[in-house]
Amino acid sequence: MGINLARIINLRKISDPKGNLTPIEGATDIPFEIARVYYTYDIPGGESRGGHAHVALEQFIIAVSGSFDVALDDGTDQISFFLNRSYYGLYVPPMVWRDLANFSSGSVCLVLASRPYEEADYIRDYSQFVGAARRSG
Ligand code: TYD
Repeated sequence: MGINLARIINLRKISDPKGNLTPIEGATDIPFEIARVYYTYDIPGGESRGGHAHVALEQFIIAVSGSFDVALDDGTDQISFFLNRSYYGLYVPPMVWRDLANFSSGSVCLVLASRPYEEADYIRDYSQFVGAARRSG
């Protein structure tokens, strides 16, 4: 169910001989107001991130440098995205399990989030997630 809402959203790219610029304004360029920003970097070869779902959090994931795969699973359906450009990102709705893998060397994963950090919003056990997703779907 939730996975149908997941989608790539293209961002503006202001091209300039001096270099490109991409702005993001919450609720205009992406579907939520931005409450938090974080990024992962210096990810060792072969490592993966994520491995959890969120109850209420919405996220927008951008490969601002390099590339990686994002596998999504709503407990019923699965879909995978390859992110490798700074001018688009992946909208991830609530109640979707995500696994990020195959990070290229030097890649930076920027995440815009709809809520502050709340450990209580995480579901870190996959079978618990599947049960909860099926009950809420
Ligand atoms: P986690 O969300 O599990 O990372 P990822 O999904 O990228 O693998 O978070 C890893 C650790 O960082 C965890 O102990 C919680 C902490 N953390 C914060 O303190 N604030 C944050 O905004 C985030 C995203 C994580």
